[in-house]
Amino acid sequence: FFSRRAHPDWNGVSVIVTAGPTRETIDPVRFFSNRSSGKMGYAIAGEAAKRGAEVTLISGPTVLPDPPGAEVIRVDSAEEMYHEVLSRYHRADLVVKSAAVADYRPAETFQHKVKKTDGTMNIEMERTTDILKTLGEQKEHQILVGFAAESENVAGYARGKLDKKNLDMVVANSIVEAGSGFQTDTNKVTLIGSNGMEKELPLLTKQEVAQAVLDEAARILKEKSQ
Ligand code: CTP
Ligand code: CA
Repeated sequence: FFSRRAHPDWNGVSVIVTAGPTRETIDPVRFFSNRSSGKMGYAIAGEAAKRGAEVTLISGPTVLPDPPGAEVIRVDSAEEMYHEVLSRYHRADLVVKSAAVADYRPAETFQHKVKKTDGTMNIEMERTTDILKTLGEQKEHQILVGFAAESENVAGYARGKLDKKNLDMVVANSIVEAGSGFQTDTNKVTLIGSNGMEKELPLLTKQEVAQAVLDEAARILKEKSQ
């Protein structure tokens, strides 16, 4: 139902996409997570496969079907996602990190269900590894695209992440504008490149945003190979 010849730029290009939330276990029944549905990352993985790229989708827990043509690796925690991404990184040409990775996890996970007691409960949280920052530090030939989910100063914070994580492009993503952010089928983003490119896109479907992100990524891949 699709032609791999339509986008010769993507033939043989190896793409890693991460998507969805991560889950950080407290005990056998409880976890910390976030509102990510995975829709944006699945749209990117599906669109890249449609264009003829070799796509590995590393996904946190979602209810979405596997995008046709992509190899899908399901993970739970930030730590698992870190290992699956890092072990494939050296072979990748493009990494798109749309996953909403938990920033913190419980410092201790309990083997048995924690029983309630009277009064309050405190859970100490420790930082997870910043996967994208690690990729930026270990970058060789790869093109790195990150997302920045922000509720204020969207472009400003996104530019900060572009620099701090050594990215080639950041997708600045408003999570407060109507129809944009978590769970929705549409998204409002601005694409910001390390080459000075800046494109504010209108409210689009996540499918259309995926196409725009990959069009820009193809341009960067071409620039780098020349
Ligand atoms: N990211 C990651 N590993 C983490 C946290 C974030 O790879 N442990 C990636 C996300 O997949 C995204 C980018 O970093 O592509 C930015 O994530 P975001 O949550 O917007 O920014 P943070 O750097 O985590 O900063 P903060 O949450 O404080 O805004
Ligand atoms: Ca974060």
